[in-house]
Amino acid sequence: MFQTLHALPGGQVQGGLRVPGDKSISHRAVILGALAEGQTSISGFLEGADALATANVFRAMGVAIEAPGGGEVLVRGAGLHGLQAPAMPLDCGNSGTSMRLLSGLLAAQSFESCLVGDASLSRRPMRRVIEPLGLMGARIDSEDGRPPLRVHPVGGLRAGDIRMNVASAQVKSALILAGLYATGTTRVTEPAPTRDHTERMLAAFGVEVGRDGPTVSIAGGQSLKGCRIDVPSDISSAAFFLVAASICPGADLTLRHVGINPTRTGVLQILRAMGADITESGRQTIGGEPVADLRVRGARLKGLDIPAQWVPLAIDEFPALFVAAACAEGVTLVRGAEELRVKESDRIAVMADGLAAIGLPVEATPDGMRIEGRGGQATAFTGGTVASHGDHRIAMAFAVASLRSSAPITILDTENVNTSFPGFADMAASVGIPVQTGEGR
Ligand code: S3P
Repeated sequence: MFQTLHALPGGQVQGGLRVPGDKSISHRAVILGALAEGQTSISGFLEGADALATANVFRAMGVAIEAPGGGEVLVRGAGLHGLQAPAMPLDCGNSGTSMRLLSGLLAAQSFESCLVGDASLSRRPMRRVIEPLGLMGARIDSEDGRPPLRVHPVGGLRAGDIRMNVASAQVKSALILAGLYATGTTRVTEPAPTRDHTERMLAAFGVEVGRDGPTVSIAGGQSLKGCRIDVPSDISSAAFFLVAASICPGADLTLRHVGINPTRTGVLQILRAMGADITESGRQTIGGEPVADLRVRGARLKGLDIPAQWVPLAIDEFPALFVAAACAEGVTLVRGAEELRVKESDRIAVMADGLAAIGLPVEATPDGMRIEGRGGQATAFTGGTVASHGDHRIAMAFAVASLRSSAPITILDTENVNTSFPGFADMAASVGIPVQTGEGR
């Protein structure tokens, strides 16, 4: 038995909602809270499976974490050197962020540990963290570059001057966390800007982090002071609704308290360049992260040749953006997005197959996609059954595609929606997108 989503045509998007907390920021709040001196109280925490996996990993290393619900979490920090050896392998579930960030942190501990994950995570590439951490003296064994990861104690890391060869915030963050423990100042240079939540949050915990163009620097041995973290709503979850309202004529939707950190707003840039009508209000900065309400109205989208430098800033939003492109007039081209092939699923192949299954064949390329949109027509899709391959964002993208479909869309294998967006179907229904959960075989 597995979960399905069943999305009916004829929806109308109206009203307002606040989507759950940011996944990236929730992970980091627990990680830094656990390493801090004193307590960290988190509000707006994403109670999805991924961030909860991170919390459980720290519990397994002796950190007291209370999560009474409602997005409130209290972490009693163990200090930089207070983690205890875990008795069992540390289970990261479906979460690449947990495994990669923790690899940097665990590489610096005086005990051995083992990081494991589910079937999807066990297929994902880990050399991208193993190799640069190795330059700092870390010793991590893998199964031919994939999980499980066995992290050996090495008696101290040395600071590194590291040029990353993939634009990845997970890799950058793993190196920064290792750098916290290293002797000397670690410098990490990224090939293109990636999300900077780790850097911003370390500052909130009282750690000095330098930034010189593409290079982040951190001196080892700095202690973290527990603090309050207010997690904004996740723009990656809001993205499904930004697309939903944009492709739905007459829609008018307000998304409240959305994180609009400039390293995450590629989706706004791309949708606006396609002609979307999105306005911001009530902008404020909370805990170093900018937040605003986003009002989005139905619009006539146009196809776009997406500039490659925008890709890392919207990397998680491509499943939704492919649906937007399918509903736009003209051709959309995505290039330089080969990273999509190593996400929770191969998001280029799985989206291309799914779009074809609902009547819109596209051209998948090694690093992107060419989509001829059906903007001129009332419906872009004919309905059908789509395999999500257990990928949360694929499932949610096809649910909103129903707004421009002539018949229902059934999406298989959707339990992982819970990794990033618990309550998605109910929230979608509450603003007029008829999505129901069901069961299949
Ligand atoms: C994340 C970084 C991105 C993103 C992932 C979360 C993070 O991955 O796709 O969902 O929290 O640092 P990469 O660093 O692999 O690009």
